[in-house]
Amino acid sequence: MGFKIAIFISGRGSNMREIVRACFKKKLKSSVELIVSNSNEAPGLYIPEIKDIDTLILDKNNIDDKSFYSLLNRSLKKKGIELICLAGFMKILKKQFIKKWKNKIINIHPSLLPAFKGLRPQHNAIQSKVKYSGCTVHYVNEKIDSGIIIDQDIIKVEDDDDEISLSKKILNKEHKLYIKVIRKLEDSYGKN
Ligand code: GAR
Repeated sequence: MGFKIAIFISGRGSNMREIVRACFKKKLKSSVELIVSNSNEAPGLYIPEIKDIDTLILDKNNIDDKSFYSLLNRSLKKKGIELICLAGFMKILKKQFIKKWKNKIINIHPSLLPAFKGLRPQHNAIQSKVKYSGCTVHYVNEKIDSGIIIDQDIIKVEDDDDEISLSKKILNKEHKLYIKVIRKLEDSYGKN
């Protein structure tokens, strides 16, 4: 079964683009019905692939939390959203919202969780001299980067890697992993 998906972004939007493309090319059964950005400066908002998808911009500098959630809830309901994919969304969602959407919000993170939670995980991986890193897609719970892990992919960290090269390698893996996970959820929906 396919989901009606909302993708939440704050920046570049490359994971968003990959999910939109996969839906459009029927590599997924789902459809992206809504893009939510908490920044009106997010470069991802200008990606051509999303031109026909409804966009909700709730700019962090111009909105209080109460209006943020009231407008968000209204749009999610109106669109009949069934799955929320966080893709570089840099706002911490409040507990009440996460509870309401339990097991229906997933996030991608550029490390092998539980290692390197939070900001700049690629930088921290380099600093720690780990030999392997990667990316994780997990359910979102009340604690940052701590929900149940759905799937991961790994890459070897080479001696000459720095934060930039490592981020690039991981991002390539992220694009594939996110699609794989959504497909897995589509396939398993209703079976458990
Ligand atoms: C991605 O690397 C994603 O894993 C990371 O932000 C980047 C967004 O890139 N997310 C986090 O660090 C969340 N904790 P994108 O906007 O090009 O998809």
